[in-house]
Amino acid sequence: MASTVERSQAPEGASAGEAPPSPAGPISAEEQSRLPEPPEIPDSRPLQILRFNQRQIQFVFAARRRFGETFRMRGARTEGLVFTSHPDHVRSLFTADPEQVPSLAAESPLRPIVGPDSVLTALGSRHMRQRKLLLPHFHGEAIERYTESIAAAAAGEIDRWPLNRPFALAPRMQAITLDVIMAGIFGIEGRPAPDTPEARLRAATKRFIGLSTTRFAQIGELMNLTRTEPIGGMRAAREIVDRPTYALIAARRRDSSLEERRDILSLLLGARTEEGEALTDSEIRDELITLVLAGHETTANSLAWAWERLVRNPAAHERLREAVRSEEGSAEQVEATILETMRSRPVVPIVGRRVMAPWRLGPHGVPADSPVLISILLVHHREDLYPEPFEFRPERWDGRKPGTYEWIPFGGGTRRCLGAALAMAEQRVVLEAMARRLDIEAAEPEPERALHRNVTMIPARGARVVVRSRLS
Ligand code: HEM
Repeated sequence: MASTVERSQAPEGASAGEAPPSPAGPISAEEQSRLPEPPEIPDSRPLQILRFNQRQIQFVFAARRRFGETFRMRGARTEGLVFTSHPDHVRSLFTADPEQVPSLAAESPLRPIVGPDSVLTALGSRHMRQRKLLLPHFHGEAIERYTESIAAAAAGEIDRWPLNRPFALAPRMQAITLDVIMAGIFGIEGRPAPDTPEARLRAATKRFIGLSTTRFAQIGELMNLTRTEPIGGMRAAREIVDRPTYALIAARRRDSSLEERRDILSLLLGARTEEGEALTDSEIRDELITLVLAGHETTANSLAWAWERLVRNPAAHERLREAVRSEEGSAEQVEATILETMRSRPVVPIVGRRVMAPWRLGPHGVPADSPVLISILLVHHREDLYPEPFEFRPERWDGRKPGTYEWIPFGGGTRRCLGAALAMAEQRVVLEAMARRLDIEAAEPEPERALHRNVTMIPARGARVVVRSRLS
């Protein structure tokens, strides 16, 4: 079936499952001067920026066809924005010392919204301190504790969906993942009671996400690309979430049961820096907004993509449904479906690093202080790693484990997604419940194209489906 992600030619002589080696890593300035820089896309700068923001998929696949796996574009802030998509290059960037290869997230279009002090945007020792503080809350036992609340949120949602009437799944998935992340962060079970600071923040977050989907917001995003502080509509949108967040922090500071609470807000309120200082309200605000935003829209859209793909790939859909309903190989089928969805539709299609030393990327050299973008989408559509990459084929994962530098929807290294284990747990529980209880069809036969919003890639119509029947 035709896919909206462009098809490309298979590189000649590619062997299935492995990419040919390509040396990568830090080099001397002299060595770098002997290597050519990656080829540059010759189009005008405004055109490149516009195409990158509005049609990123077409843009990166076309560039790969013309220039190969490493190329340069002219970005909003910088001339030489280097793209790469070879797993050896990915490994060199993910395993390097973070001081030598810091994340570009500090310069991301999200920074004006999430602020400079969150685990997403902080750098160096400040970043590592926050990661250490938060990581245990997104791993092992903590995830097991979440599983029940995910199942309850999913069951409640599924019961409410209409039968035989088309609707978009993405907002429904978002309702589930928002409940889950709010429960983890603020320690509330189920939907917060009306007229509480928690309920006001939940409503504000939904409004904020709604605003950021409009065409107007995308123009605002382009205007904010070169800034670290928000302007115009973006500032107004930020205030929507700021007010209830500060109100919630103030309310929790007054809470007499603060010491017994195990949620993340309480943890942040009790945290001390090495100098023994408490975090400021604005640091806590940045952390909370990051976790709420990074932690629910991504997972919701990944689930929406799973169904956008499944309802257009009957063999994969049937295989999943049968395994889940017969309980034979259910866990394996659910896992394979998630791996294949995140390979073919990675919700975050790019992660960025800045190389502080001259760097080799295969036959090319890039100077120190260059931003390097890893195109997750291009890595995931390499014919040598994934034969027939434009086909949605969960069975390619039968007996195969995702490679650390080949399947990278959560990025990697010391900046790897903090919520990866939670996102996987949510996808497993929700996908299983839906496949078990619902007969779902596509609302329209045409596949949905990808829409780019902030740093995410989401189904343009929100994954529209029709539910034909529901088991209790
Ligand atoms: C399917 C869902 C998700 C996807 C595809 C995703 C993807 C990503 C990616 C690509 C990065 C950047 C990694 C890098 O630069 O190497 C990231 C970072 C991050 N994600 Fe996720 N994410 C998801 C869900 C979540 C959830 C549920 C949370 C909840 C807490 C979360 C919190 C974060 C945070 C805090 C960071 C910054 C980590 C750091 O810089 O140390 N994400 N995510």
